[in-house]
Amino acid sequence: MVRIAIVTGASVGLGKEYVHQLDQSGEVDEIWMVARRGELLDTVAAGLVRSKGRVFAADLTRAESTKPFYEALDREKHDVVWLVNNAGFGKAGAFDRSPVQVNLSMVDLNIRAMVELTQRVLPHCRRGCHILQVGSSAGWKPMPNFALYAATKSFVNSFAIALHYELADRGITVTAVCPGPVATDFFDVSSEGSDKALRQTRAVDPAKVVAISLQDARAGRAESVYGLSVKLYGWMAPLLPTRLTAMVVKRMRKGKS
Ligand SMILES: NC(=O)c1ccc[n+]([C@@H]2O[C@H](COP(=O)([O-])OP(=O)(O)OC[C@H]3O[C@@H](n4cnc5c(N)ncnc54)[C@H](OP(=O)(O)O)[C@@H]3O)[C@@H](O)[C@H]2O)c1
Repeated sequence: MVRIAIVTGASVGLGKEYVHQLDQSGEVDEIWMVARRGELLDTVAAGLVRSKGRVFAADLTRAESTKPFYEALDREKHDVVWLVNNAGFGKAGAFDRSPVQVNLSMVDLNIRAMVELTQRVLPHCRRGCHILQVGSSAGWKPMPNFALYAATKSFVNSFAIALHYELADRGITVTAVCPGPVATDFFDVSSEGSDKALRQTRAVDPAKVVAISLQDARAGRAESVYGLSVKLYGWMAPLLPTRLTAMVVKRMRKGKS
């Protein structure tokens, strides 16, 4: 049986790093990579050492674009040992001033595509399979001026942790990955303005976030959080009054777009 890993958003950032580290692990025969920029995926595939790369240049928000991927998955019936639902994006700024198509596409990618992939991959998962749902610490509390992104990640975090317990009987580990700021292209996409400063000041190395999350998944953990400050926020978040944090975040994020 061919053991495969599926990584979405594998062209750059955290996804590219997941591909690299899963390849190094020697746990899989093939890595199936999904993202829109096929030429970048080809480059990532060319760098694989221990596994074979399969490139699916697809927009996960468009059914006709993902059809070849799902057809291959159902036809080839491989053993999925890792699923990394990583593709996602955010847009900072006032909700009422952001284009409706961009917002719906965020919901489509961060939520709908992640749910669909999880459900359609599960028949191909056996005992010992790991599913990583890349959520965010942004999903722990409502975030004015980053409202929709935080809400989509709240969905991802909640869905992942619920599935962790639901699928435990099948021997499948589901882990919610909840990073704080990570040094990737995320901030170039999310913001044309001052959020970019966050990338330079507080963002961490994607390799570290990925390494810890793979380690946490192998240890059977429901949640993976990298870095002391993010962990501290994670411990405090359930205790903090939501209204107060929303007001503080609103002040902090005012004017960010
Ligand atoms: N960086 C952070 O600070 C941070 C913090 C917390 C959580 N996260 C989460 O981590 C995940 C990865 O983000 P990143 O930081 O690595 O950002 P990134 O460097 O911008 O990577 C995003 C990835 O998603 C893919 N993608 C975007 N739209 C897509 C679509 N419609 N169809 C298929 N693939 C699509 C992109 O590939 P193409 O453009 O080639 O399609 C890219 O590979 C996201 O879910 C993000 O929300 C990031």
